[in-house]
Amino acid sequence: MNTILVTGGLGFIGSHTVVELQNAGYHVIIIDNLYNSKMEVLDQITEITGIKPSYFNIDLRNKEEVHAFFNSHQIDGIIHFAASKAVGESVKNPLLYYENNIATLVYILQEMKTHQIPNFIFSSSCTVYGQADELPITENAPVKPAESPYGNTKQIGEEIIEQSCHATHLKAIALRYFNPIGAHESVKIGELPLGVPQNLIPYITQTAAGIRKELSVFGDDYPTPDGTAIRDYIHVVDLAKAHIAALERLIKGINKKEFEVFNIGTGKGSSVLEVIKTFEKINQLHLSYKIVERRKGDITAAYADTTLANKELGWKAEKTLEEALHSAWRWQQKQ
Ligand code: WQD
Repeated sequence: MNTILVTGGLGFIGSHTVVELQNAGYHVIIIDNLYNSKMEVLDQITEITGIKPSYFNIDLRNKEEVHAFFNSHQIDGIIHFAASKAVGESVKNPLLYYENNIATLVYILQEMKTHQIPNFIFSSSCTVYGQADELPITENAPVKPAESPYGNTKQIGEEIIEQSCHATHLKAIALRYFNPIGAHESVKIGELPLGVPQNLIPYITQTAAGIRKELSVFGDDYPTPDGTAIRDYIHVVDLAKAHIAALERLIKGINKKEFEVFNIGTGKGSSVLEVIKTFEKINQLHLSYKIVERRKGDITAAYADTTLANKELGWKAEKTLEEALHSAWRWQQKQ
């Protein structure tokens, strides 16, 4: 049975991926320093699958602890989620992002080289495209100068991995996520934003729950049909399954290059107002919102061309925006 290390495995996307890995028969080890997650997620994962993953509370910035871990575990592949991911925070504290997102990646890759661990899946983001010139966005779209240190760490991370693949035995796939939303159908795991949510969906669900007074819509003067910005919102369970498909591609050795990139989205764009209306309809409630100024750094529109992932990974998003928004609301009601 293949043993897969999932760094950040107690986080939003990480925990959903651990569930799918266990469902697919992998033995999972989680490393998570609980910086942006909670210990009880481990019990929730265990309740869903009936299998308790091994767990280590290690800060990947601690090179000695990382070294000791790899010296005492046989690992067949790594899915690397552990990173800081708040765009605004990265602008205020870039060095935290370069240390936490880049230095830790280098330590992991060094251990993979030492221990000849061949398979690596990297959590990347459509942020690397900035505002793409053409929509939908393909993997050939140019990577644009990053608008934030967070986005830059994803670009630099991909380059570091690609160069490592050329220099060593490593095989890697970077998955460029669009906008992950929703929660597992069991409502035992979901998004746990700490503090005031930066992302649209948790802000919407907290407004609907009365935790936030009203949603601010960041601009309705974009060149889009209803003036609000468009994104590709993908159910987190569909996103998790894409990681299993990518891992299997590497384990079977059917990757066509030692470093590959795939866009992981639904291929469908939805505007902020469309998301609000869909959320209201599917959950039969009214959402209070107001239109305010655009948020600095936001792009007008992004949605994926998923042809490559469909064809090469044999993966396609199956859940609808309605299902994702309904699961997000059910998860919020449980908090
Ligand atoms: C979506 C849309 C906002 C909040 C970011 C990162 C990306 C990834 C996902 C980590 C935008 C609008 C939002 C609000 C609003 N993160 N909005 N009111 O900015 O597309 O992507 O999160 O990997 O890398 O860049 O996601 O959810 O913040 O915003 O109107 O209170 O909702 O302007 O149009 P974004 P988001």
